Amino acid sequence: MKRKKKIALIFGITGQDGSYLAEFLINKNYIIHGVKRRSSSANTQRIDHLHDSINFTNKNFFIHYGDVTDSSSTINLINSIKPDEIYNLAAQSHVKVSFDIPEYTANSTALGSLRILEALRFLKLNKTKYYQASSSEMFGRQSRNKSQNENTKFHPMSIYGVSKVFSYHTTIYYREAHGIFAANGILFNHESPRRGPTFVTKKIIQALVRIKFNKQKVLTLGNLYAIRDWGHAKDYVGSMWKILQYKKPDDWVIATNHIMSVKEFVTVSAKKLGIQIKWINKGLNEVGINLSTKKKIVKVDKKYLRAGEVDFLKGDYNKAKKLLKWKPKVSIDQLINEMIDDELNLYE
Ligand code: NAP
Ligand code: GDD
Repeated sequence: MKRKKKIALIFGITGQDGSYLAEFLINKNYIIHGVKRRSSSANTQRIDHLHDSINFTNKNFFIHYGDVTDSSSTINLINSIKPDEIYNLAAQSHVKVSFDIPEYTANSTALGSLRILEALRFLKLNKTKYYQASSSEMFGRQSRNKSQNENTKFHPMSIYGVSKVFSYHTTIYYREAHGIFAANGILFNHESPRRGPTFVTKKIIQALVRIKFNKQKVLTLGNLYAIRDWGHAKDYVGSMWKILQYKKPDDWVIATNHIMSVKEFVTVSAKKLGIQIKWINKGLNEVGINLSTKKKIVKVDKKYLRAGEVDFLKGDYNKAKKLLKWKPKVSIDQLINEMIDDELNLYE
């Protein structure tokens, strides 16, 4: 007998992770329903190519308007689709922006998960599995010499982080109190050519390529000394799926355990583009000079500093490695190469 195809509902399908997850699930023969927000200009660039993908048919890929700040659309979609798996990737996901729009951030990033989980409880869809996109930003202020794992205490430093902590605990609450298969993936920073342009890795690579082609003079950054554990988004969406296939719902750190500072990321990326940077001065006066042209190409501006900063993130993903058999496949070096190549393609 032919096995029934699984149905996945992805909130946040138009984002970096949503687009890779949709590709991943299409290849696993899922029927995919994605939720996009209404916007005044196109916001489906990251998924438009899926219509040309080998496994695409009009019967296995559907996009619906919706918004996780809107309870009625959320419950109506879940009720009509009755998915086997829900991936909640929808969020106001920019930490710095959450300082400017804290209430909206809490409404989407915190209350969005509550709306979805409450819909599952209300509709008695107790077979539907739920994935929550939790974040290493929840760890917030940590000491510099230890990796963070599933037992590390949270100390969020932004309303984004606080909202993600709310969603993390809400997920556990629906699991323990209502028996829903609800799991948290605590993902550390992950990037790709599809990363939004205001996140630091994409911003750096875009700017350095523009500088190389004389389209931009200077790259202006905030805290050069923040340290992150950067992985590849394509790698990480596989862990989301594995988390929902595990025998029981649980909480999982997904990371690479390798770290790099923002400053090193600039230096390494510039070197790959044939630009040697010499760093001089300190604090807000710190600048990066292009050794061959002697021109200032990197500077610091306090407008990019954060009221609450997370200085150090390094993930210990041993639990996922042991039980989910998940490990990262792409190194930071390969990630930077891929992001640079993608950017260079625009010019060549
Ligand atoms: P992203 O590129 O910013 O994508 C976020 C997605 O959420 C987009 O599709 C966005 O739609 C959608 N969205 C925003 N507000 C919404 C709302 N009110 N209702 C419905 N959809 C809404 O983020 P990402 O990097 O793919 O991350 C995916 C998720 O993982 C986010 O929840 C993020 O907080 C979390 N996370 C990310 C990382 C990381 O390093 N990337 C690490 C840990 C956790 P538009 O396209 O219309 O904006
Ligand atoms: N965006 C940005 N722009 N960040 C800068 C800049 C700049 O000009 N200059 C320095 N930084 C520093 C930030 O202060 C931060 O310490 C670090 O670079 C990374 O910033 P982002 O790339 O904006 O990512 P993030 O770590 O704040 O948040 C991302 O990762 C989280 C997981 O830890 C986002 O994807 C979140 O959604 C995710 O939860």
